[in-house]
Amino acid sequence: MKKVVITREIFDDAVELIEKHFSVVSNQQDQAFTNDELVEMAYDADGIQTMSTDRIDGAFLGKCPKLKAVCNTAVGYNNIDVDACTRRGVMVTNTPGVLTNSVADFAIGLMIATCRRMGEGERYLRAGQFKGVYLKQTLGHDVHGATLGIVGFGRIGQTIAKRASGFDMNILYHTRNRVAPGIENQTGARFVGKDELLRQADIVMLILPYSADTHHYIGAQELALMKPTAVLVNMARGGIVDDAALVDALRNKTIWAAGLDVYENEPKFDPGFLELENVVLKPHIASAAEPTRRAMSMTAAKNLVAALTSGEPPNLVNPEYREFVKT
Ligand code: GLV
Repeated sequence: MKKVVITREIFDDAVELIEKHFSVVSNQQDQAFTNDELVEMAYDADGIQTMSTDRIDGAFLGKCPKLKAVCNTAVGYNNIDVDACTRRGVMVTNTPGVLTNSVADFAIGLMIATCRRMGEGERYLRAGQFKGVYLKQTLGHDVHGATLGIVGFGRIGQTIAKRASGFDMNILYHTRNRVAPGIENQTGARFVGKDELLRQADIVMLILPYSADTHHYIGAQELALMKPTAVLVNMARGGIVDDAALVDALRNKTIWAAGLDVYENEPKFDPGFLELENVVLKPHIASAAEPTRRAMSMTAAKNLVAALTSGEPPNLVNPEYREFVKT
């Protein structure tokens, strides 16, 4: 019987599905493993269901020579060295689609929370400072009528645009490849260059994939292009923003505020953020609605089962792996 490893806790129905097909080693206690501990579990495994916190690189693959499939429980897969997997004939899968709506909901929530200083308001109340209503208290920026600049215009970016049009926002977008006119019409979003978007947007929303090319896509230079009244929302991945430069920009009021769900070097983050009132901080939970996390868990499990039974997982991200499979 083939062996698979589930690196972190997933929902029981997904474990049950996998157990019907394979012998399973599962970390349902959900303690985070070091890379060495992960290798100890997976050195003789045929497949592995991972979380975005598991680093799957060439060194790991070298120690797990039987591995045929790495099935990530996330839509992003920058934790996996896909080229290294491909060269070893290992399939990589992700969980697109099932989290689009939940992440788009959260993006809108984080945008409003940041523009309307909701974190500050809560801290104020919890600190016992709420003594009455003052006309000029906790003044923020309106979302309705503002210009939203979305960077990254895949499924999630487009869904955010549709939500934002309900707030009568003026919507700009930037992405490597401009989308079809039909999608622009449906979303009401206008394509602009990166610098133009940064200069014009009241809210810059990041929802692009992380790669070597997008490392520090937003750094000091880009932050300097933004309006002093602008808000930055990072829904994408840590590393897309140079967090040290962002702390400086928030401290010096180069930009007005930021809403962050992701950080460089998670779960660590720049301690400078904690000293600032003008940042709303969330612990990478944009997809964390119960039905969505359940669907992600099951989607990854189905990918794993299909990868090791038919060799045709529905969400394969590296079809070119086939050229490297030894027969
Ligand atoms: C979450 O960050 C994901 O990529 O699914």
